[in-house]
Amino acid sequence: MIAIRTKREIELLRAANVIVADVLVSLAEKVEPGVTTIELDILADRLIREAGGVPSFKGYHGYPNSTCISVDEVIIHGIPGKRALKEGEIVSIDVGVNYKGYFGDAALSVPCGNVDAKRRRLMEVTERALANGLAAARAGNYLRDVSRAIQQTVEPAGFTIVKNFVGHGIGTEMHEDPQIPNFDTGDRGPRLKEGMVMAIEPMVNLGTERVKLLKDGWTATTADGAPSAHFEHSIVVRDGLPEILSMSPRRSWGLPSAA
Ligand code: MF3
Ligand code: CO
Repeated sequence: MIAIRTKREIELLRAANVIVADVLVSLAEKVEPGVTTIELDILADRLIREAGGVPSFKGYHGYPNSTCISVDEVIIHGIPGKRALKEGEIVSIDVGVNYKGYFGDAALSVPCGNVDAKRRRLMEVTERALANGLAAARAGNYLRDVSRAIQQTVEPAGFTIVKNFVGHGIGTEMHEDPQIPNFDTGDRGPRLKEGMVMAIEPMVNLGTERVKLLKDGWTATTADGAPSAHFEHSIVVRDGLPEILSMSPRRSWGLPSAA
């Protein structure tokens, strides 16, 4: 069952997601060599609470922190800790907020200092995959159209799609129906309707698509140690079109390119 949200609910979801976006931008601005991932997490926890939200990752199935900070070969669910960022790494930041019972979720990848051309391209393609995926989230389309738009952006560029993790509906819980694969499963899935709210989140690898789960039970890395990127937005289908909820006035990502 995919929830259809009312106007009032959409405004609460927007409030939650605007907090998420703003915190993501603040963290992205702090990324530089020497900064530890726990420092970023502590800042996020404070900013979320100051904005009137509650970090939704903390305590979720026992997850210990307010953010996931996934560095370079870490795909997602990197647990913040003593790891210090190094020049040339991709830093993927994922933030979730509960605001008055409504959930926000978004993520972005940023370079730490100067990164090599292949990492830069990996981030560009992943961000474009998100842009193309959400552009396909129109009323009347099938969920499969979103998945295909992502796949058709990533694979011709020579990168691989992580299959073990998916995007998701979001609303009064962080994870709701439907699951949103970043590739065509062969199933056309539900038709998208006015008022549906979804978190679309391609995870893209430079090398193998295979995933390794670390012994902490959370950290998902690439099996070959090659880098990975992750961009996520929460959107609502409104007036038939995708409207991004996780927007910050300071910086935006995953938008359709102008050209
Ligand atoms: N944005 C991620 C997701 O949708 C982050 C969840 S981290 C967790 O699954 F710790 F809360 F699980
Ligand atoms: Co998510």
